[in-house]
Amino acid sequence: MGEDSAEMRALVIYCHPDPQSFTAAVRDTVLARLETAGAELRVIDLYGEGFDPALSRTELQTYADTVVNTRGIEAHAAGLEWCDTLVFVYPTWWYGLPGMLKGWLDRVLMPGLAFHMPDAEHRLIRPGLTRVTGLAVFTTCGASWWLTAWVGAPGKHQLLRGVRAICAPNCRTAFAAHYLMDSSTPASRARHLARVAATVERLVPGRTSGRLRRLPFLGRRDGPAAGSARLAETGTRRQDGSDQDGGRRVQGSFTIAIDGPAASGKGTISRALAEKFGLAHLDTGLLYRATGAKVADGMAPITAAEGLMPADLERGDLRSAEAGQAASRVAAIPEVRTALVDFQRRFARRQGGAVLDGRDIGTVICPEAEVKLYVVADDETRAKRRFAELAASNPELTLSTVLEDLRARDRRDSERAASPLKPAEDALVLDTTRMSIDEAVEAAAAAVVARMPG
Ligand code: DC
Repeated sequence: MGEDSAEMRALVIYCHPDPQSFTAAVRDTVLARLETAGAELRVIDLYGEGFDPALSRTELQTYADTVVNTRGIEAHAAGLEWCDTLVFVYPTWWYGLPGMLKGWLDRVLMPGLAFHMPDAEHRLIRPGLTRVTGLAVFTTCGASWWLTAWVGAPGKHQLLRGVRAICAPNCRTAFAAHYLMDSSTPASRARHLARVAATVERLVPGRTSGRLRRLPFLGRRDGPAAGSARLAETGTRRQDGSDQDGGRRVQGSFTIAIDGPAASGKGTISRALAEKFGLAHLDTGLLYRATGAKVADGMAPITAAEGLMPADLERGDLRSAEAGQAASRVAAIPEVRTALVDFQRRFARRQGGAVLDGRDIGTVICPEAEVKLYVVADDETRAKRRFAELAASNPELTLSTVLEDLRARDRRDSERAASPLKPAEDALVLDTTRMSIDEAVEAAAAAVVARMPG
């Protein structure tokens, strides 16, 4: 047993029906890393042992009877009593736990063993897994990070919040997921296994990179791993599912707010910063474009905004000049803005840090953002950039129409009463008129680095 982990006893709950699955490779990586760290290991293979996940009527009748409620699950109960580290390895199905694993929670996390039922003195259940000081989740998701987060990530939260609540108060957590599994590649899977290995390190007592450290940043994420990352188009994490907790990355929240008029370069800068520092990115203009498109289809603006779905953001027509104008019109309606605020604020303060670009991020959505940039460029330069983007798909377009369109939109966005386009008082103004993309990104990145703690 290694010096770092003399006390480490890890119970790995593995749940996948196919021994050839990528989840099996994740399990093997977890086991190999734990073994190297000197941990004692026990593995429960739910499908392998033919675990019955359905809590029966009889079991429900004796649920609270701590003398008999672990009958039939003795080995599982013994594992829970033995371990100080609990690791779950499973595929995410329908955004949550596979039925088999949910059934394990139902049938094994019993009163008296895993928690204590409310009684005359306690209104709430009390933790029973108080020896467990490390809890980790390794999973794969067919959906994108974006869609999973939008649905609420029920599987992740059931374990890292629900089960965490019955563990030791100082229990550390670790998480790594590979999203968009169906379009995974050998390279994305290999990267994920490396991430899993790094994440397991966090569980080892004595390692310094645990989640319990409160520093907002452990370090800059500008090494080769970040450089090779791919960004999804919008509202995004990296496509290969980088919700990992290992390695040098943002801890806690850290918000970069980037505002500015249309075609100023804020979108390009935002995506580049997100990639460079390993942050999530939200193009908030897309929320308004999607709302505007639904209104153009005949829906009432407030209903459209309140019912916005991830699929609405994936429409192919959102980048057109018409969609931009429709967005600018609905964006002037206060109730539309209100309907979109919560989502943006939650995104801005999410764990791991975020970049948001729009018109009111630094002033209204996240006035407490650690970094605020206001990106501008002169009208002609912006019109040329937008023209270059749109001309191929619209041969009728002329530079002067684009210029008029941008000016009309800027006027409406700046003159509206509700959250108008303007720089926050403490924003750094970046004029990209005479800058190349690289120069603009470099200047923005320097502003970010200057505000990073440590
Ligand atoms: O960034 P964009 O060009 O895609 O935005 C389209 C319109 O949406 C823009 O003209 C105004 C509106 N918008 C807004 O009012 N507030 C935001 N945070 C983002 C966009």
